[in-house]
Amino acid sequence: MSDLVYLNGEYLPLAEARVPVLDRGFIFGDGVYEVIPVYDRQPFRLQHHLDRLQHSLDGIRLDNPHSLEEWQSLIARIVEAAEWSDQGVYLQVTRGPAPRDHAFPKVVQPTVFIMAMALTTPRPEVVANGVAAITAADNRWQHCDIKTTSLLANVLLRQSSVDAGCAETILIRDGLLTEGSSSSIFVVKDGVIAAPPHSNLVLPGITYDVVVELAGQEGVPLTMRAIPEAELRNADEIWLTSSTKEITAVTRLDGQPVGDGRPGPLFRRLHAAYQTYKHQVMRGRNG
Ligand code: PDD
Repeated sequence: MSDLVYLNGEYLPLAEARVPVLDRGFIFGDGVYEVIPVYDRQPFRLQHHLDRLQHSLDGIRLDNPHSLEEWQSLIARIVEAAEWSDQGVYLQVTRGPAPRDHAFPKVVQPTVFIMAMALTTPRPEVVANGVAAITAADNRWQHCDIKTTSLLANVLLRQSSVDAGCAETILIRDGLLTEGSSSSIFVVKDGVIAAPPHSNLVLPGITYDVVVELAGQEGVPLTMRAIPEAELRNADEIWLTSSTKEITAVTRLDGQPVGDGRPGPLFRRLHAAYQTYKHQVMRGRNG
């Protein structure tokens, strides 16, 4: 964790950052957040993340406490102060402190918190071998498009994969694939990529959008459509994507090999395209 954080108008050491215990983020999980990857001190797709933050704030009926320019400069200062050139910026907005009552307070003083974390992108052996995942029933609420700090269902679902020695829990709702506990999911069959479309049942992943764009540039067919559980289980390849996991191949599902049990050819192609894109955008060079 970087030492300098931002809290409600102040930059201060993490150990000195304090939030009142009646903060609705603590009492109700009444808040939203973003995780923004930063490469070479350049926030990746910042505008997209701030647009999604606005969508989340709208979803919980909380006014955005900052303009786009204000967010950009607050984030820039945290990025600059952090010790790593590659980092993950975490930001959170809650409905702030108020006497405990489910209903909104009449006067809202939102809490804004920003910190930088070390960015732990997939290790080379994970890229080479992929990861194992389990499946579980998606028992979350009906507003999974809101990136809320109320993550208890996701936390419990993710822990079940940790308990099983796996890297992710892939979720099924009403017989259809939704997403992972903390990632978006793609499947490949016969050379065609498929992913569930954006809806209230999935988080609109920023990395998902990058993969969709790169598939288009690579000329690889991709469809956004409902994916029945059987298609997930019979896929040639399964990938998970997120700001921290980038693109990672899932090579075992519920103890069974996915395809031949190795990261597939389309994974390798899209993973390479993602790395090239990342470096082009952020470092002005290829590879
Ligand atoms: N999680 N779906 C869920 C439920 C997620 O929590 C995430 C990311 C994603 C992928 O979104 P993106 O590509 O924008 O990172 C999909 C972040 C990384 C987290 O909670 O730490």
